[in-house]
Amino acid sequence: MSTFQAPKGTYDLLPPDSATYLAVREAIAAPLKKSGYGYVETPGFENVELFARGVGESTDIVTKEMYTLTTKGGDELALRPEGTASVLRAALEANLHKAGNLPVKLWYSGSYYRYERPQKGRYRHFSQVGAEAIGAEDPALDAELIILADQAYRSLGLSDFRILLNSLGDKECRPVYRDALQGFLRGLDLDEDTRRRIDINPLRVLDDKRAEVQKQLVGAPMLRDYLCDACKAYHEEVRGLLQAAGVAFEDDEKLVRGLDYYTRTTFEFVHDGLGAQSAVGGGGRYDGLSEMIGGPALPSVGWALGVDRTVLALEAEGITLDIPASTSVYAVPLGEEARRVLFGVVTELRRAGVATDFSFGGKGLKGAMKNANRSGARYAIVAGERDLAEGVVQLKDMESGEQEPVALDAIVATLQAKPA
Ligand code: HAM
Repeated sequence: MSTFQAPKGTYDLLPPDSATYLAVREAIAAPLKKSGYGYVETPGFENVELFARGVGESTDIVTKEMYTLTTKGGDELALRPEGTASVLRAALEANLHKAGNLPVKLWYSGSYYRYERPQKGRYRHFSQVGAEAIGAEDPALDAELIILADQAYRSLGLSDFRILLNSLGDKECRPVYRDALQGFLRGLDLDEDTRRRIDINPLRVLDDKRAEVQKQLVGAPMLRDYLCDACKAYHEEVRGLLQAAGVAFEDDEKLVRGLDYYTRTTFEFVHDGLGAQSAVGGGGRYDGLSEMIGGPALPSVGWALGVDRTVLALEAEGITLDIPASTSVYAVPLGEEARRVLFGVVTELRRAGVATDFSFGGKGLKGAMKNANRSGARYAIVAGERDLAEGVVQLKDMESGEQEPVALDAIVATLQAKPA
């Protein structure tokens, strides 16, 4: 009986399913690695103030969902709820933006923590692979990132996802819109909580899922009508580049996103097989974030794709990734002497680069062969007293079932020459 369980809202990744998670992480990272993005890793926790200022005091993430702690030394820290603020902090701290080749393009992969109400697809510990392009205002950069995420999903075989696209305007036009929207919202019949939201973050009210709220929102001023010429032109350029790349998207004027740092381009990847937690990834431009956390003006754009939800999307589409067996050779010793000799062969094979596993624990032939089968290995090598006396091991092709003796001193070279 197990005394401890994984904390609420978390789960463990165990073989064989964990292989799918690794493959998803790799599939998302692959197009980034080939497009000039360098790997960045930041701590799992940061000063709480970084997120308060970066993600925003008015967001659920900061007000309700952060795991905060005071260290014995008195520092106020938070487990990272997202990656963008940390990555930008790291880039600024290392002066990457001063090295003279903007944008600084970075990708990351790791664990994030939000104290949310757990449900399918929504966890308190989850994984993201993300990308940030720091220090350039160029619609091609926004388009590049969306195209790379699309490429990553397609490489996994996913097709039931949609890309929602919007522009949130900039520091010129959004305040004007915000005023207009607040004026409209104040005239509606809304509950206390929602009224408070009108003051703090009125755009989030547009996102309200309740039908009675949505009904009243008909006729609300739309940001599209308030975008300044520069924002409009920028957005049209992003749209045009996506169209030219053959990446389909839907304009979604109500797409707001749950983090405060966004400006201009925002987007979300939603999957139609996931129910309530349908956003598999999201991102956008955050031209003001650097200044918000004490840096110079550095217009930037990025996204993060959720690994957990991407795996659920694969399940929803009935896609099983083709994950090659990790073991190609499985060694089965029969008896003490064989164990010493075959363990030596296993070590040699491994040093020669052949993925090899060994039957531990002195199992009999039947049990050991069952394990050999389960390992997915293409070949088994079996040896008992009599084989050793003859200076051979039995090499079994697990696919054809054929077996032949091979000289002990030739087995490593023989297996190296075989296709994996
Ligand atoms: P986000 O939309 O908060 O954006 O998260 C991105 C993705 O992480 C979501 O679409 C979802 O797949 C996954 N995710 C978020 N919360 C959970 C959860 N509780 N359980 C499971 N999966 C979750 C960001 O984090 C931004 N930093 C993205 C970004 C990068 N924007 C610019 N650069």
